[in-house]
Amino acid sequence: MTKANETTTDAAGSATDPERIIVFDTTMRDGEQSPGASMNLSEKLRIAEVLEGMGVDVIEAGFPIASEGDFEAVNEIAKVVKDSGVCGLARAGKADIERAGEAVKPARRPRIHTFISTSPLHMKYKLQMEPDDVYQAVIDSVTHARNFTDDVEWSCEDGSRTEHDFMCRCVEAAIDAGAATINIPDTVGYALPDEFAAIIAMLRNRVPNMDKAVISVHCHNDLGLAVANSLAAVKAGARQIECTINGLGERAGNAAMEEIVMALRTRADLMPYAPRIVTENITKASRLVSTVTGFTVQPNKAIVGANAFAHEAGIHQDGVLKHAGTYEIMTPESVGLTESKLVLGKHSGRHAFKEKLKEMGYDIGDNAVEDAFKRFKDLADLKKDVFDEDIIALVDETVVRTNDRIKLASLEVLCGTVHTPPKADLSLDIDGEVTSAQSTGDGPIDAVFKAIKALTGEDPHLQLYQVHAVTEGTEAQAEVTVRLEEKGKTVNGQSADTDTVVASAKAYINALNKLLVKQKKTAPAAISA
Ligand code: KIV
Ligand code: ZN
Repeated sequence: MTKANETTTDAAGSATDPERIIVFDTTMRDGEQSPGASMNLSEKLRIAEVLEGMGVDVIEAGFPIASEGDFEAVNEIAKVVKDSGVCGLARAGKADIERAGEAVKPARRPRIHTFISTSPLHMKYKLQMEPDDVYQAVIDSVTHARNFTDDVEWSCEDGSRTEHDFMCRCVEAAIDAGAATINIPDTVGYALPDEFAAIIAMLRNRVPNMDKAVISVHCHNDLGLAVANSLAAVKAGARQIECTINGLGERAGNAAMEEIVMALRTRADLMPYAPRIVTENITKASRLVSTVTGFTVQPNKAIVGANAFAHEAGIHQDGVLKHAGTYEIMTPESVGLTESKLVLGKHSGRHAFKEKLKEMGYDIGDNAVEDAFKRFKDLADLKKDVFDEDIIALVDETVVRTNDRIKLASLEVLCGTVHTPPKADLSLDIDGEVTSAQSTGDGPIDAVFKAIKALTGEDPHLQLYQVHAVTEGTEAQAEVTVRLEEKGKTVNGQSADTDTVVASAKAYINALNKLLVKQKKTAPAAISA
């Protein structure tokens, strides 16, 4: 695993260097609240490993009281992550805080993040509480959380629409009660950069004990300003930024970590607040989160989109060839994008494969290497040129799909121009038992999906079916995303294969596995963003 630069942090996980930005990742908490973005335990563990490897300071791993699955994920991540702080979210109530405290207990640097709404609108309609009662809840919740850890973060939900006097009162009380981090969320993505920066400056001017805590910001992207607002807040004195990989998150998402980190790196001349993120790991993290959630990254997305470093126009290409700086403000290598390289052929052995994984920054354990090697051999048989992108897709699938209940055992499909309906002959391994079914359909994909439904007895609504190529050329692996919905639950499945029909079957099965394990959360209504 790539190690982050050495930077000292105190017991509470805050940077001791007052000019350093603390990166707080909430991909697995706020990001997972995005409809369909559910992640299972092994997927979360893999994401945590990648986040830790890239130097994230604090990983918000979930909302422990929301479900058994969330509790388990936070708890297991707390057991294995050593270099990053591990955080669990809690509303202001005792039960939430105790559950979060229990979940993060095994962590080397456990953090509880407790929050309550403070805007007039939220207090009146959502909480139906008087401001004085909210004020008391701030004190009680932070005081209670301190029984479990010294590292307590307090957030005023809907902060950007909160009255300043009341915000100052609550922030001062939270710090007095023991909060080491004060987070100001722009919960509904409503703020403008100047306005948001002014809130941070106002807190620094008016709250007498503000210097005893780190100011954090948490911006949503409803107006496309999450990153701009976060950076404006940093200029005004915020020193922790909450963000997600690929900007994943409810509605329009959260501030994108890759954009924040690369803006700070690229414009260090104007913003000298270096985070300790290993930016070369950004592409790997982005692809993993996309594979796990099934949320493909739009091609023109800043930093991680497929076109982010592509120069199509002749005049640009000419300029870049003469001097990269003419149109390139950062290098593709700085975000971990290397030239599509031919890695290994079908005659490559285990040793060469292991070396390649090491070179690409993967440290996935012997069993996973063995599984990945088998998949690599199968792929190399089908595909002459195996590229880095193919290896990434293959490893991500190997590592995150280990606990799936349903697996594809075999698939044969008959289709063509003859006037017989396409037919699928499919076997599934369900909880270790292999069963088979045949089905016809309007097309080969329809026949395959019908056979899966027949074998599993599940009949969810197919909301989305999408295919794109992992690399270029007709030999490329197809990456398929399938979104299924059942009884109000939405999940995305994703898979890659040289055969589009096989990739479709595996993506459908991946989504079904998620649907089967997705537990109903008990407290989502409490979080509006
Ligand atoms: O957007 C928000 O206000 C949140 C809080 C729980 C911090 O996600
Ligand atoms: Zn949020």
